[in-house]
Amino acid sequence: MNNPVTGFSKLSKEEKINWIAKEYFSTPSEAILLLKNYWNSDEKIQKLHDEFIENTITNFYIPLGVAPNFLINGKYCTIPMAIEESSVVAAASNSSKFWSTRGGFKATVVNTEKIGQVHFIFKGDVSKLQLFFAQTKAKFYEQTESITKKMQKRGGGILDIVLQDKTNLLPDYFQLHATFETKDSMGANFINSCLEQFARILKEESLAYNLFTETEKNLQVIMSILSNYVPNCIVRAEVSCPIEALAEKHITNPQEFAERFVQAVQIAEVEPFRAVTHNKGIMNGVDAVVLATGNDFRAVEAGIHAYAAKSGQYSSLSHAKIENGIFTFWLEIPLALGTVGGLTSLHPLVKLSLEMLENPSAKELMQVVAVAGLAQNFAALRSLTTTGIQDGHMKMHLNNILNQFDANDNERILIRKHFKHHAVSHSGVVELIENLRK
Ligand code: MEV
Repeated sequence: MNNPVTGFSKLSKEEKINWIAKEYFSTPSEAILLLKNYWNSDEKIQKLHDEFIENTITNFYIPLGVAPNFLINGKYCTIPMAIEESSVVAAASNSSKFWSTRGGFKATVVNTEKIGQVHFIFKGDVSKLQLFFAQTKAKFYEQTESITKKMQKRGGGILDIVLQDKTNLLPDYFQLHATFETKDSMGANFINSCLEQFARILKEESLAYNLFTETEKNLQVIMSILSNYVPNCIVRAEVSCPIEALAEKHITNPQEFAERFVQAVQIAEVEPFRAVTHNKGIMNGVDAVVLATGNDFRAVEAGIHAYAAKSGQYSSLSHAKIENGIFTFWLEIPLALGTVGGLTSLHPLVKLSLEMLENPSAKELMQVVAVAGLAQNFAALRSLTTTGIQDGHMKMHLNNILNQFDANDNERILIRKHFKHHAVSHSGVVELIENLRK
């Protein structure tokens, strides 16, 4: 049984670590040493990371890798990816190489609208509420000008505000459903500030509205928050080439490969169990770039999976077809990203990743992220429909197993040599290590 702690957040970092080490570890000194080994030797950098969140005790490393040679809309780029899964960057690099000689990736931003809502309860005459909203709508724009002025200068701002009657879902439930353009920022703070101001205006104006009864004036704002579901903030990425151009080492019969590939995508379109794994493969690419560029991957994940279920059944985010001898593979995903604000100017490695991408606009970053998702999906499906996934995956995972057993240099050379010609399996590696150590 561990003891509860009071005032933990007020303790110094050192005191927090000491408390945790004493409370949870049989050898506290080892735990303390490990935590401190992951501190950055540059105090300024460490302080920056300490202050990102509350109760920081150390840093948690994830590798930052790069996938070069991505030809996107006729321009080469190197994509930074922060991810721990062994085969992801290798797969992205494979795909980029494959498509760079077949026309590259085409990406387009379809639209960039963000959404936020004020959820409220109104008990009374709906037609009076509608009249009230029509008469006060201009005030929602006027009285948020101090918040929207800068954004307007950048070409963004509030696009529209509509009153939505949701009483068919929940008694007396209404919304102000607002749409925004936030240009190069993800816009969460901007949107939430606007929404909280809308909520204040809604409350004040309804109290002063003569046509409302006392009950109607007592309208209750429940909450004001942006939505991470952004079905009108869509980017599309695509690859295509004549079927015969698909030929390569593992694709000896391109027609058969293209047909199997399309069928694999169709299975993910109709079968949710497969769709989830199929889309997980897409998210391997998407999340890695979103994380490396300091964007909110939880928001992106939530929004993309909601989009995948927009028909009422969870389905594939990507699609493929063969038409007139041309193989086309594409995806469309919602992505609310920022290249200014948030972590983008704070985290040194985020700044570096953005610079590597030549300081993209939010729209350009949307394209890169969608391409990374499509590339990942292509690599996974190419393996799945030809050699199977384990061959490449386990070859990459071999290093992890060797590290797990603390293999020395000589053991590594011998084991890698052996597995050049044999399928890698965890038990196979363990057996070989044990034999070598006998
Ligand atoms: C593994 O991280 C991702 C895959 O399972 C994706 C897929 O099955 O398409 C290989």
